[in-house]
Amino acid sequence: MTADRVYIFDTTLRDGEQSPGASMNVEEKLRIAQQLERLNVDIIEAGFPIASKGDFEAVRLVAEKVRGCSIAGLARAKDADIDRAWEALKVAEDPRIHTFIATSPIHMQHKLRMEPEQVVEAAVAAVKRAAGYTSNVEWSAEDAGRTEIDFLCRIVEAVIKAGATTINIPDTVGYTLPFEFGERISALVERVPNMHKAIISVHCHNDLGLAVANSLSAVTNGARQVECTINGMGERAGNAALEEVVMAIQTRRDIMPFKTNVDATEITRASKLVSTITGFPVQPNKAIVGANAFAHESGIHQDGVLKKATTYEIMTPESVGLTTNRMVLGKHSGRHAFRDRLNQLGYRLDDDQLARVFIRFKALCDQKKELFDEDLEALVDDEVIRLRDYYHVKRLHVSYSPDKNPVATVEVASPDDESLRQGTHWGASGMVDSALKAVKAAIPEMSDSKLVFYQVHSITGGTDAQAEVTVRVELEEKTVNGQGADCDVVMASVKAFINALNKLAYKRDKGRNKPRSGV
Ligand code: KIV
Ligand code: ZN
Repeated sequence: MTADRVYIFDTTLRDGEQSPGASMNVEEKLRIAQQLERLNVDIIEAGFPIASKGDFEAVRLVAEKVRGCSIAGLARAKDADIDRAWEALKVAEDPRIHTFIATSPIHMQHKLRMEPEQVVEAAVAAVKRAAGYTSNVEWSAEDAGRTEIDFLCRIVEAVIKAGATTINIPDTVGYTLPFEFGERISALVERVPNMHKAIISVHCHNDLGLAVANSLSAVTNGARQVECTINGMGERAGNAALEEVVMAIQTRRDIMPFKTNVDATEITRASKLVSTITGFPVQPNKAIVGANAFAHESGIHQDGVLKKATTYEIMTPESVGLTTNRMVLGKHSGRHAFRDRLNQLGYRLDDDQLARVFIRFKALCDQKKELFDEDLEALVDDEVIRLRDYYHVKRLHVSYSPDKNPVATVEVASPDDESLRQGTHWGASGMVDSALKAVKAAIPEMSDSKLVFYQVHSITGGTDAQAEVTVRVELEEKTVNGQGADCDVVMASVKAFINALNKLAYKRDKGRNKPRSGV
Protein backbone atom coordinates (compact mmCIF):
# COMPACT_ATOMS: atom_id res chain seq x y z
CA MET A 1 0.00 0.00 0.00
CA THR A 2 1.37 3.42 -0.93
CA ALA A 3 0.46 6.49 1.07
CA ASP A 4 -1.07 8.28 -1.90
CA ARG A 5 -3.23 5.42 -3.15
CA VAL A 6 -7.00 5.81 -2.77
CA TYR A 7 -8.98 2.56 -2.94
CA ILE A 8 -12.23 2.67 -4.87
CA PHE A 9 -15.04 0.61 -3.34
CA ASP A 10 -17.99 0.40 -5.68
CA THR A 11 -21.39 -0.21 -4.09
CA THR A 12 -23.61 0.19 -7.17
CA LEU A 13 -24.85 -3.38 -6.73
CA ARG A 14 -25.70 -2.94 -3.04
CA ASP A 15 -26.40 0.69 -2.04
CA GLY A 16 -27.02 1.70 -5.67
CA GLU A 17 -29.66 -0.97 -5.98
CA GLN A 18 -31.47 0.57 -3.02
CA SER A 19 -32.69 3.36 -5.36
CA PRO A 20 -36.45 2.80 -5.56
CA GLY A 21 -37.24 0.96 -8.81
CA ALA A 22 -33.61 0.09 -9.58
CA SER A 23 -33.68 -3.58 -8.75
CA MET A 24 -31.54 -5.77 -11.00
CA ASN A 25 -31.61 -9.48 -11.62
CA VAL A 26 -28.67 -11.79 -11.04
CA GLU A 27 -27.43 -11.75 -14.65
CA GLU A 28 -27.64 -7.96 -14.78
CA LYS A 29 -25.62 -7.70 -11.59
CA LEU A 30 -22.97 -9.98 -13.01
CA ARG A 31 -22.75 -7.86 -16.16
CA ILE A 32 -22.25 -4.72 -14.10
CA ALA A 33 -19.68 -6.48 -11.92
CA GLN A 34 -17.77 -7.53 -15.04
CA GLN A 35 -17.73 -3.94 -16.24
CA LEU A 36 -16.53 -2.84 -12.78
CA GLU A 37 -13.74 -5.41 -13.15
CA ARG A 38 -12.74 -3.75 -16.45
CA LEU A 39 -12.95 -0.39 -14.74
CA ASN A 40 -10.45 -1.83 -12.28
CA VAL A 41 -12.14 -0.82 -9.05
CA ASP A 42 -10.52 -2.28 -5.93
CA ILE A 43 -13.60 -3.63 -4.17
CA ILE A 44 -17.07 -4.51 -5.47
CA GLU A 45 -19.82 -4.67 -2.89
CA ALA A 46 -22.03 -7.22 -4.61
CA GLY A 47 -25.01 -7.21 -2.24
CA PHE A 48 -26.46 -7.99 1.16
CA PRO A 49 -26.59 -11.80 1.17
CA ILE A 50 -29.10 -12.28 3.98
CA ALA A 51 -31.55 -9.77 2.48
CA SER A 52 -33.01 -12.21 -0.07
CA LYS A 53 -32.29 -15.34 -2.07
CA GLY A 54 -31.65 -13.16 -5.12
CA ASP A 55 -29.09 -11.06 -3.24
CA PHE A 56 -27.36 -14.17 -1.98
CA GLU A 57 -27.18 -15.68 -5.48
CA ALA A 58 -25.87 -12.44 -6.97
CA VAL A 59 -23.09 -12.14 -4.39
CA ARG A 60 -22.14 -15.78 -4.87
CA LEU A 61 -22.11 -15.49 -8.67
CA VAL A 62 -20.03 -12.31 -8.64
CA ALA A 63 -17.66 -13.87 -6.08
CA GLU A 64 -17.25 -16.88 -8.33
CA LYS A 65 -16.82 -15.12 -11.67
CA VAL A 66 -15.07 -11.82 -11.02
CA ARG A 67 -11.35 -11.80 -10.47
CA GLY A 68 -8.69 -9.17 -9.81
CA CYS A 69 -10.58 -7.30 -7.10
CA SER A 70 -12.02 -7.91 -3.68
CA ILE A 71 -15.73 -8.85 -3.41
CA ALA A 72 -17.63 -7.60 -0.39
CA GLY A 73 -20.97 -8.64 1.09
CA LEU A 74 -22.90 -6.64 3.67
CA ALA A 75 -23.96 -8.02 7.06
CA ARG A 76 -25.61 -6.49 10.11
CA ALA A 77 -23.96 -7.13 13.46
CA LYS A 78 -25.72 -10.48 13.73
CA ASP A 79 -24.30 -13.99 13.57
CA ALA A 80 -26.78 -15.16 10.94
CA ASP A 81 -25.95 -12.23 8.65
CA ILE A 82 -22.21 -12.80 8.92
CA ASP A 83 -22.49 -16.54 8.36
CA ARG A 84 -24.71 -16.00 5.34
CA ALA A 85 -22.36 -13.37 3.92
CA TRP A 86 -19.44 -15.76 4.24
CA GLU A 87 -21.40 -18.56 2.59
CA ALA A 88 -21.91 -16.33 -0.46
CA LEU A 89 -18.41 -14.86 -0.48
CA LYS A 90 -16.13 -17.76 0.29
CA VAL A 91 -15.47 -18.63 -3.37
CA ALA A 92 -14.10 -15.15 -4.08
CA GLU A 93 -10.43 -14.54 -4.78
CA ASP A 94 -10.35 -11.94 -2.00
CA PRO A 95 -13.58 -12.01 0.03
CA ARG A 96 -14.47 -9.16 2.35
CA ILE A 97 -17.16 -9.21 5.03
CA HIS A 98 -18.60 -5.75 5.59
CA THR A 99 -20.46 -5.54 8.88
CA PHE A 100 -22.18 -2.46 10.24
CA ILE A 101 -24.14 -1.08 13.17
CA ALA A 102 -25.55 2.37 13.82
CA THR A 103 -23.65 4.59 16.25
CA SER A 104 -25.48 7.94 16.36
CA PRO A 105 -27.61 8.73 19.44
CA ILE A 106 -30.76 8.99 17.33
CA HIS A 107 -30.22 5.60 15.66
CA MET A 108 -29.09 3.80 18.83
CA GLN A 109 -32.00 5.11 20.86
CA HIS A 110 -34.89 4.97 18.38
CA LYS A 111 -33.92 2.35 15.82
CA LEU A 112 -31.75 -0.15 17.67
CA ARG A 113 -33.13 0.59 21.15
CA MET A 114 -29.70 -0.24 22.52
CA GLU A 115 -27.39 1.45 25.00
CA PRO A 116 -24.03 2.64 23.60
CA GLU A 117 -22.23 -0.06 25.58
CA GLN A 118 -24.40 -2.75 24.00
CA VAL A 119 -23.62 -1.32 20.56
CA VAL A 120 -19.87 -1.55 21.23
CA GLU A 121 -20.31 -5.15 22.38
CA ALA A 122 -22.36 -6.11 19.32
CA ALA A 123 -19.89 -4.42 16.94
CA VAL A 124 -16.90 -6.18 18.53
CA ALA A 125 -18.66 -9.55 18.50
CA ALA A 126 -19.62 -9.12 14.82
CA VAL A 127 -16.08 -8.18 13.79
CA LYS A 128 -14.64 -11.13 15.74
CA ARG A 129 -17.05 -13.52 14.06
CA ALA A 130 -16.22 -12.12 10.61
CA ALA A 131 -12.49 -12.25 11.37
CA GLY A 132 -12.92 -15.95 12.11
CA TYR A 133 -13.73 -16.38 8.42
CA THR A 134 -11.40 -13.88 6.73
CA SER A 135 -8.75 -11.33 7.59
CA ASN A 136 -10.45 -8.86 5.23
CA VAL A 137 -13.09 -7.31 7.50
CA GLU A 138 -14.70 -3.92 7.05
CA TRP A 139 -16.71 -2.35 9.82
CA SER A 140 -19.07 0.61 9.33
CA ALA A 141 -20.46 3.05 11.87
CA GLU A 142 -23.84 3.76 10.33
CA ASP A 143 -24.77 7.45 10.67
CA ALA A 144 -21.19 8.27 11.69
CA GLY A 145 -21.78 11.80 10.40
CA ARG A 146 -24.10 12.41 13.38
CA THR A 147 -22.23 10.26 15.93
CA GLU A 148 -20.61 11.88 18.98
CA ILE A 149 -16.92 12.02 18.18
CA ASP A 150 -15.75 10.60 21.54
CA PHE A 151 -17.99 7.58 21.14
CA LEU A 152 -16.91 7.16 17.50
CA CYS A 153 -13.24 7.12 18.51
CA ARG A 154 -13.93 4.62 21.29
CA ILE A 155 -15.87 2.15 19.16
CA VAL A 156 -13.41 2.42 16.24
CA GLU A 157 -10.54 1.56 18.57
CA ALA A 158 -12.47 -1.46 19.89
CA VAL A 159 -13.36 -2.90 16.46
CA ILE A 160 -9.80 -2.50 15.16
CA LYS A 161 -8.65 -4.44 18.21
CA ALA A 162 -11.24 -7.09 17.34
CA GLY A 163 -9.82 -7.51 13.82
CA ALA A 164 -11.37 -4.89 11.50
CA THR A 165 -8.94 -3.88 8.75
CA THR A 166 -11.08 -1.20 7.12
CA ILE A 167 -13.07 1.34 9.12
CA ASN A 168 -15.86 2.94 7.16
CA ILE A 169 -17.27 6.32 8.21
CA PRO A 170 -20.60 6.82 6.46
CA ASP A 171 -22.45 10.08 6.24
CA THR A 172 -25.59 7.98 5.99
CA VAL A 173 -28.05 10.86 5.75
CA GLY A 174 -25.85 13.26 3.76
CA TYR A 175 -25.89 15.82 6.57
CA THR A 176 -22.33 16.97 7.00
CA LEU A 177 -20.44 19.76 5.25
CA PRO A 178 -17.03 19.16 3.66
CA PHE A 179 -14.88 20.93 6.28
CA GLU A 180 -16.82 19.29 9.11
CA PHE A 181 -16.56 15.81 7.61
CA GLY A 182 -12.85 16.31 6.94
CA GLU A 183 -12.35 17.30 10.60
CA ARG A 184 -14.11 14.10 11.67
CA ILE A 185 -11.58 12.05 9.70
CA SER A 186 -8.56 13.92 11.03
CA ALA A 187 -9.93 13.53 14.60
CA LEU A 188 -9.96 9.75 14.08
CA VAL A 189 -6.41 9.81 12.71
CA GLU A 190 -5.20 11.83 15.68
CA ARG A 191 -7.19 10.30 18.51
CA VAL A 192 -7.58 6.57 17.83
CA PRO A 193 -4.34 4.96 19.03
CA ASN A 194 -4.50 1.92 16.69
CA MET A 195 -5.91 3.81 13.69
CA HIS A 196 -2.74 3.10 11.69
CA LYS A 197 -3.67 -0.60 11.67
CA ALA A 198 -6.72 0.00 9.47
CA ILE A 199 -7.65 1.92 6.34
CA ILE A 200 -10.15 4.71 6.80
CA SER A 201 -13.00 4.56 4.33
CA VAL A 202 -15.80 7.03 3.70
CA HIS A 203 -19.30 6.48 2.37
CA CYS A 204 -21.16 9.71 1.67
CA HIS A 205 -24.77 10.21 0.68
CA ASN A 206 -25.81 13.12 -1.46
CA ASP A 207 -28.82 14.63 0.32
CA LEU A 208 -27.27 18.11 0.25
CA GLY A 209 -25.42 17.51 -3.03
CA LEU A 210 -22.12 17.25 -1.10
CA ALA A 211 -21.29 13.54 -1.31
CA VAL A 212 -18.31 13.97 -3.65
CA ALA A 213 -17.04 17.11 -1.89
CA ASN A 214 -17.26 15.35 1.48
CA SER A 215 -15.45 12.29 0.14
CA LEU A 216 -12.60 14.41 -1.24
CA SER A 217 -12.36 16.40 1.97
CA ALA A 218 -12.06 13.09 3.83
CA VAL A 219 -9.28 11.93 1.50
CA THR A 220 -7.28 15.09 2.09
CA ASN A 221 -7.65 14.42 5.83
CA GLY A 222 -6.49 10.81 5.82
CA ALA A 223 -9.18 8.56 4.30
CA ARG A 224 -7.80 6.11 1.74
CA GLN A 225 -10.94 4.31 0.59
CA VAL A 226 -13.95 5.96 -1.03
CA GLU A 227 -17.26 4.16 -1.36
CA CYS A 228 -19.22 5.28 -4.37
CA THR A 229 -21.59 4.22 -7.13
CA ILE A 230 -21.74 4.58 -10.91
CA ASN A 231 -23.84 7.63 -11.86
CA GLY A 232 -24.22 8.38 -8.14
CA MET A 233 -27.00 5.79 -7.89
CA GLY A 234 -28.41 5.12 -4.46
CA GLU A 235 -31.13 5.66 -1.94
CA ARG A 236 -32.81 9.11 -1.93
CA ALA A 237 -30.34 11.55 -3.54
CA GLY A 238 -27.82 8.76 -4.06
CA ASN A 239 -24.20 8.11 -3.13
CA ALA A 240 -20.97 9.83 -4.15
CA ALA A 241 -20.59 9.34 -7.92
CA LEU A 242 -17.60 7.12 -8.72
CA GLU A 243 -16.85 8.96 -11.97
CA GLU A 244 -16.73 12.33 -10.21
CA VAL A 245 -14.49 11.13 -7.38
CA VAL A 246 -12.08 9.41 -9.76
CA MET A 247 -11.88 12.26 -12.26
CA ALA A 248 -11.48 14.89 -9.53
CA ILE A 249 -8.53 12.94 -8.14
CA GLN A 250 -7.08 12.41 -11.61
CA THR A 251 -7.59 16.00 -12.79
CA ARG A 252 -6.45 17.81 -9.64
CA ARG A 253 -3.32 15.87 -8.78
CA ASP A 254 -1.63 19.28 -8.57
CA ILE A 255 -3.27 19.92 -5.21
CA MET A 256 -4.49 16.43 -4.27
CA PRO A 257 -1.45 14.18 -4.62
CA PHE A 258 -3.42 10.93 -4.75
CA LYS A 259 -4.14 8.26 -7.28
CA THR A 260 -6.62 5.48 -7.88
CA ASN A 261 -6.16 2.34 -9.95
CA VAL A 262 -9.31 2.98 -11.97
CA ASP A 263 -9.08 2.82 -15.76
CA ALA A 264 -11.06 6.00 -16.41
CA THR A 265 -11.51 5.19 -20.09
CA GLU A 266 -14.08 2.58 -19.00
CA ILE A 267 -16.22 5.16 -17.18
CA THR A 268 -18.57 6.07 -20.04
CA ARG A 269 -19.31 2.44 -20.79
CA ALA A 270 -19.95 1.69 -17.12
CA SER A 271 -22.29 4.66 -16.87
CA LYS A 272 -24.29 3.62 -19.93
CA LEU A 273 -24.52 0.03 -18.81
CA VAL A 274 -25.84 0.96 -15.36
CA SER A 275 -28.30 3.42 -16.85
CA THR A 276 -29.55 0.88 -19.39
CA ILE A 277 -29.92 -1.93 -16.89
CA THR A 278 -31.54 0.07 -14.11
CA GLY A 279 -33.63 2.31 -16.35
CA PHE A 280 -32.29 5.35 -14.51
CA PRO A 281 -31.44 8.00 -17.10
CA VAL A 282 -28.39 10.21 -16.62
CA GLN A 283 -29.25 13.91 -16.55
CA PRO A 284 -27.71 15.67 -19.60
CA ASN A 285 -25.68 18.11 -17.50
CA LYS A 286 -24.36 15.43 -15.10
CA ALA A 287 -20.61 15.86 -14.52
CA ILE A 288 -18.36 13.47 -16.48
CA VAL A 289 -21.07 11.22 -17.95
CA GLY A 290 -23.94 13.54 -18.93
CA ALA A 291 -24.65 13.88 -22.66
CA ASN A 292 -23.60 17.54 -22.48
CA ALA A 293 -20.57 17.09 -20.22
CA PHE A 294 -18.19 17.69 -23.13
CA ALA A 295 -20.50 19.61 -25.49
CA HIS A 296 -19.65 23.22 -26.31
CA GLU A 297 -22.66 25.18 -27.43
CA SER A 298 -21.64 28.82 -27.34
CA GLY A 299 -19.66 30.22 -30.26
CA ILE A 300 -16.98 31.70 -28.00
CA HIS A 301 -16.40 28.33 -26.34
CA GLN A 302 -16.37 26.45 -29.64
CA ASP A 303 -13.87 28.90 -31.05
CA GLY A 304 -11.63 28.54 -27.98
CA VAL A 305 -11.79 24.73 -28.01
CA LEU A 306 -10.91 24.62 -31.71
CA LYS A 307 -7.87 26.82 -31.07
CA LYS A 308 -6.80 24.93 -27.96
CA ALA A 309 -9.00 22.33 -26.24
CA THR A 310 -7.75 23.19 -22.73
CA THR A 311 -9.29 26.67 -22.98
CA TYR A 312 -12.61 25.15 -21.94
CA GLU A 313 -11.87 21.45 -21.33
CA ILE A 314 -10.24 20.46 -18.05
CA MET A 315 -10.16 16.82 -19.15
CA THR A 316 -10.56 15.22 -22.55
CA PRO A 317 -13.64 13.26 -23.59
CA GLU A 318 -11.29 10.40 -24.53
CA SER A 319 -9.94 10.23 -20.98
CA VAL A 320 -13.37 8.98 -19.81
CA GLY A 321 -13.86 6.73 -22.81
CA LEU A 322 -16.11 9.01 -24.79
CA THR A 323 -15.58 8.33 -28.48
CA THR A 324 -18.92 9.51 -29.73
CA ASN A 325 -20.24 8.92 -33.19
CA ARG A 326 -17.24 7.06 -34.48
CA MET A 327 -18.19 5.17 -37.57
CA VAL A 328 -16.97 1.65 -36.95
CA LEU A 329 -18.30 -0.96 -39.29
CA GLY A 330 -20.51 -1.14 -42.33
CA LYS A 331 -22.32 -3.42 -44.71
CA HIS A 332 -19.13 -4.95 -46.05
CA SER A 333 -17.51 -5.73 -42.71
CA GLY A 334 -16.90 -9.41 -42.10
CA ARG A 335 -17.58 -11.51 -39.04
CA HIS A 336 -13.94 -11.34 -37.98
CA ALA A 337 -13.83 -7.53 -37.88
CA PHE A 338 -17.18 -7.59 -36.14
CA ARG A 339 -15.95 -9.92 -33.39
CA ASP A 340 -12.79 -7.82 -33.01
CA ARG A 341 -14.75 -4.64 -32.51
CA LEU A 342 -17.03 -6.30 -29.95
CA ASN A 343 -13.95 -7.56 -28.10
CA GLN A 344 -12.55 -4.03 -28.06
CA LEU A 345 -15.86 -2.87 -26.61
CA GLY A 346 -15.43 -5.42 -23.84
CA TYR A 347 -17.93 -8.08 -24.96
CA ARG A 348 -16.96 -11.75 -24.98
CA LEU A 349 -19.63 -13.63 -26.91
CA ASP A 350 -19.75 -17.33 -27.59
CA ASP A 351 -20.13 -18.53 -31.20
CA ASP A 352 -23.86 -18.89 -31.01
CA GLN A 353 -24.34 -15.41 -29.51
CA LEU A 354 -21.99 -13.92 -32.08
CA ALA A 355 -23.89 -15.56 -34.93
CA ARG A 356 -27.19 -14.13 -33.66
CA VAL A 357 -25.83 -10.63 -33.18
CA PHE A 358 -24.11 -10.75 -36.57
CA ILE A 359 -27.41 -11.49 -38.34
CA ARG A 360 -28.96 -8.51 -36.54
CA PHE A 361 -25.95 -6.38 -37.45
CA LYS A 362 -26.31 -7.17 -41.16
CA ALA A 363 -30.03 -6.38 -41.01
CA LEU A 364 -29.25 -3.08 -39.29
CA CYS A 365 -26.70 -2.21 -41.99
CA ASP A 366 -29.54 -2.36 -44.50
CA GLN A 367 -31.60 0.04 -42.43
CA LYS A 368 -28.92 2.47 -41.38
CA LYS A 369 -26.12 4.02 -43.41
CA GLU A 370 -23.56 4.48 -40.67
CA LEU A 371 -23.04 2.28 -37.64
CA PHE A 372 -21.41 3.51 -34.45
CA ASP A 373 -20.11 1.78 -31.32
CA GLU A 374 -23.32 2.73 -29.57
CA ASP A 375 -25.31 0.83 -32.20
CA LEU A 376 -23.26 -2.30 -31.62
CA GLU A 377 -23.65 -1.99 -27.87
CA ALA A 378 -27.41 -1.67 -28.26
CA LEU A 379 -27.50 -4.75 -30.52
CA VAL A 380 -25.60 -6.89 -28.03
CA ASP A 381 -27.74 -5.62 -25.16
CA ASP A 382 -30.87 -6.39 -27.11
CA GLU A 383 -29.92 -9.79 -28.50
CA VAL A 384 -27.78 -11.35 -25.80
CA ILE A 385 -28.11 -9.64 -22.50
CA ARG A 386 -31.84 -9.31 -22.06
CA LEU A 387 -33.92 -12.22 -20.93
CA ARG A 388 -35.96 -13.42 -23.85
CA ASP A 389 -36.89 -16.95 -23.15
CA TYR A 390 -40.53 -16.52 -22.11
CA TYR A 391 -42.06 -14.29 -24.74
CA HIS A 392 -40.66 -12.54 -27.71
CA VAL A 393 -42.20 -10.46 -30.42
CA LYS A 394 -42.55 -12.16 -33.81
CA ARG A 395 -44.56 -9.60 -35.73
CA LEU A 396 -45.91 -6.10 -35.22
CA HIS A 397 -48.33 -4.27 -37.41
CA VAL A 398 -49.55 -0.77 -36.66
CA SER A 399 -51.74 1.37 -38.86
CA TYR A 400 -52.19 5.04 -38.30
CA SER A 401 -53.64 8.08 -40.00
CA PRO A 402 -54.24 11.48 -38.40
CA ASP A 403 -58.04 11.20 -38.57
CA LYS A 404 -58.29 7.64 -37.22
CA ASN A 405 -57.33 5.90 -34.02
CA PRO A 406 -54.27 3.68 -34.44
CA VAL A 407 -54.73 -0.08 -34.62
CA ALA A 408 -51.95 -2.40 -33.49
CA THR A 409 -51.60 -6.15 -33.82
CA VAL A 410 -48.74 -8.14 -32.33
CA GLU A 411 -47.76 -11.75 -32.49
CA VAL A 412 -45.83 -13.00 -29.51
CA ALA A 413 -44.01 -16.32 -29.45
CA SER A 414 -43.70 -18.26 -26.26
CA PRO A 415 -40.85 -20.80 -26.40
CA ASP A 416 -42.56 -22.65 -23.54
CA ASP A 417 -45.11 -24.24 -25.80
CA GLU A 418 -43.96 -22.84 -29.14
CA SER A 419 -47.41 -21.28 -29.52
CA LEU A 420 -47.95 -17.99 -31.24
CA ARG A 421 -50.33 -15.64 -29.48
CA GLN A 422 -51.93 -12.67 -31.16
CA GLY A 423 -53.34 -9.50 -29.66
CA THR A 424 -55.00 -6.50 -31.25
CA HIS A 425 -55.88 -3.14 -29.79
CA TRP A 426 -57.42 -0.04 -31.26
CA GLY A 427 -58.65 3.25 -29.95
CA ALA A 428 -55.63 4.02 -27.82
CA SER A 429 -54.00 7.42 -27.67
CA GLY A 430 -51.08 6.78 -30.01
CA MET A 431 -49.18 4.07 -31.82
CA VAL A 432 -46.97 3.17 -28.87
CA ASP A 433 -49.95 3.03 -26.52
CA SER A 434 -51.86 0.80 -28.97
CA ALA A 435 -48.92 -1.51 -29.48
CA LEU A 436 -48.32 -2.01 -25.74
CA LYS A 437 -52.02 -2.66 -25.16
CA ALA A 438 -51.93 -5.19 -28.01
CA VAL A 439 -49.06 -6.95 -26.22
CA LYS A 440 -51.19 -7.19 -23.08
CA ALA A 441 -54.05 -8.62 -25.14
CA ALA A 442 -51.66 -11.25 -26.51
CA ILE A 443 -50.40 -12.20 -23.03
CA PRO A 444 -53.51 -12.24 -20.82
CA GLU A 445 -51.60 -13.54 -17.78
CA MET A 446 -49.78 -10.18 -17.79
CA SER A 447 -52.82 -8.03 -18.45
CA ASP A 448 -52.77 -6.55 -14.93
CA SER A 449 -49.24 -5.22 -15.40
CA LYS A 450 -48.95 -1.46 -15.12
CA LEU A 451 -46.53 0.73 -17.05
CA VAL A 452 -45.18 3.26 -14.53
CA PHE A 453 -42.30 4.76 -16.50
CA TYR A 454 -41.56 5.14 -20.20
CA GLN A 455 -38.58 6.81 -21.78
CA VAL A 456 -37.18 6.88 -25.27
CA HIS A 457 -33.82 8.12 -26.40
CA SER A 458 -32.02 8.17 -29.69
CA ILE A 459 -28.82 6.14 -29.55
CA THR A 460 -27.06 8.21 -32.23
CA GLY A 461 -28.17 11.15 -34.39
CA GLY A 462 -30.33 11.17 -37.53
CA THR A 463 -33.80 9.93 -38.39
CA ASP A 464 -32.42 6.45 -39.05
CA ALA A 465 -30.95 6.26 -35.53
CA GLN A 466 -31.92 3.38 -33.29
CA ALA A 467 -34.34 4.28 -30.54
CA GLU A 468 -33.65 2.87 -27.10
CA VAL A 469 -36.71 2.57 -24.93
CA THR A 470 -36.70 2.01 -21.18
CA VAL A 471 -39.86 1.07 -19.30
CA ARG A 472 -40.69 0.30 -15.71
CA VAL A 473 -43.57 -2.11 -15.15
CA GLU A 474 -45.35 -3.21 -11.98
CA LEU A 475 -47.30 -6.38 -11.33
CA GLU A 476 -48.38 -7.89 -8.01
CA GLU A 477 -46.08 -5.57 -6.01
CA LYS A 478 -43.07 -6.43 -8.15
CA THR A 479 -41.34 -3.74 -10.19
CA VAL A 480 -38.96 -4.39 -13.06
CA ASN A 481 -37.25 -2.39 -15.78
CA GLY A 482 -37.21 -3.37 -19.42
CA GLN A 483 -35.20 -2.10 -22.37
CA GLY A 484 -35.47 -2.50 -26.10
CA ALA A 485 -33.72 -1.01 -29.13
CA ASP A 486 -34.79 -0.79 -32.73
CA CYS A 487 -34.71 1.64 -35.63
CA ASP A 488 -38.46 1.89 -35.20
CA VAL A 489 -39.63 3.53 -31.99
CA VAL A 490 -42.88 1.49 -31.75
CA MET A 491 -40.97 -1.78 -32.16
CA ALA A 492 -38.36 -0.62 -29.60
CA SER A 493 -41.23 0.10 -27.18
CA VAL A 494 -42.78 -3.33 -27.70
CA LYS A 495 -39.40 -5.00 -27.16
CA ALA A 496 -38.80 -3.03 -23.97
CA PHE A 497 -42.26 -3.89 -22.64
CA ILE A 498 -41.84 -7.58 -23.46
CA ASN A 499 -38.39 -7.54 -21.86
CA ALA A 500 -40.03 -6.27 -18.65
CA LEU A 501 -42.79 -8.91 -18.89
CA ASN A 502 -40.11 -11.60 -19.26
CA LYS A 503 -38.49 -10.43 -16.05
CA LEU A 504 -41.84 -10.45 -14.26
CA ALA A 505 -42.54 -13.96 -15.55
CA TYR A 506 -39.10 -15.03 -14.35
CA LYS A 507 -39.73 -13.59 -10.88
CA ARG A 508 -43.14 -15.22 -10.75
CA ASP A 509 -41.70 -18.65 -11.64
CA LYS A 510 -38.82 -18.22 -9.23
CA GLY A 511 -41.37 -17.52 -6.51
CA ARG A 512 -42.85 -20.90 -7.39
CA ASN A 513 -39.38 -22.44 -7.34
CA LYS A 514 -39.40 -23.09 -11.04
CA PRO A 515 -36.44 -21.21 -12.46
CA ARG A 516 -36.10 -21.34 -16.22
CA SER A 517 -33.32 -23.13 -17.99
CA GLY A 518 -30.51 -20.86 -19.15
CA VAL A 519 -31.37 -18.17 -16.63
O1 KIV B 1 -25.23 4.65 4.29
C1 KIV B 1 -24.81 3.80 5.08
O2 KIV B 1 -24.60 4.04 6.28
C2 KIV B 1 -24.60 2.46 4.57
C3 KIV B 1 -23.88 1.50 5.47
C4 KIV B 1 -24.55 0.18 5.52
C5 KIV B 1 -22.46 1.40 5.04
O3 KIV B 1 -24.93 2.16 3.44
ZN1 ZN C 1 -25.25 4.01 2.23
